[in-house]
Amino acid sequence: MMEQDIQEILFSQAALERRVKELAGELRRDYAHKAPLVVGILRGSFVFMADLVRHLDFPLTLDFMAASSYHGAQSSGKVNIQLDLHDDIAGRDVLLVEDILDTGNTLSKLVAELRSRNPASLKLCVLLDKPDRRTQPIQADYVGFTIPDAFVVGYGLDYEQQYRNLPYIGVLKPSVYQG
Ligand code: IMP
Repeated sequence: MMEQDIQEILFSQAALERRVKELAGELRRDYAHKAPLVVGILRGSFVFMADLVRHLDFPLTLDFMAASSYHGAQSSGKVNIQLDLHDDIAGRDVLLVEDILDTGNTLSKLVAELRSRNPASLKLCVLLDKPDRRTQPIQADYVGFTIPDAFVVGYGLDYEQQYRNLPYIGVLKPSVYQG
């Protein structure tokens, strides 16, 4: 079973629920009268996004994106958008929702791309922040939890597309990815 692969539970279902509710309170203060476009970055954000928006009691619209960075020596500095937004964001107040901010490679490029489309504002809300691993000058405007450098899964986060359905966030046993 999946639990056997988890070394330690970092955030229980109850802890996640509490913190997501608090974040929603912060967002209500900033967005209640802006009818924002809330953009989930697939796939990792899907659980967080679903919980978060159900605590937002003001008008908003939703969209999703999927992106990856080009890696390796051929890195062009451009983001590879696999799924783009449905509508134009010019003049919109856009809130990006992501599971985790790690090196910042993908998100910094995605943010640059979206800024070039002239939204009225663009902010970033992440459930988890791993600042120790950052290589790009990017910060989130809303952060659920700041965590140390460990590989975590659950609540949308995966290892090789698995564990996303765990209802809590746990540290994966290194033996799982060290073979
Ligand atoms: P970045 O471009 O290095 O910031 O990569 C961010 C992406 O890497 C996230 O959207 C996650 O998909 C993935 N990621 C980074 N750290 C973890 C982790 O601890 N567990 C699962 N996925 C992670």
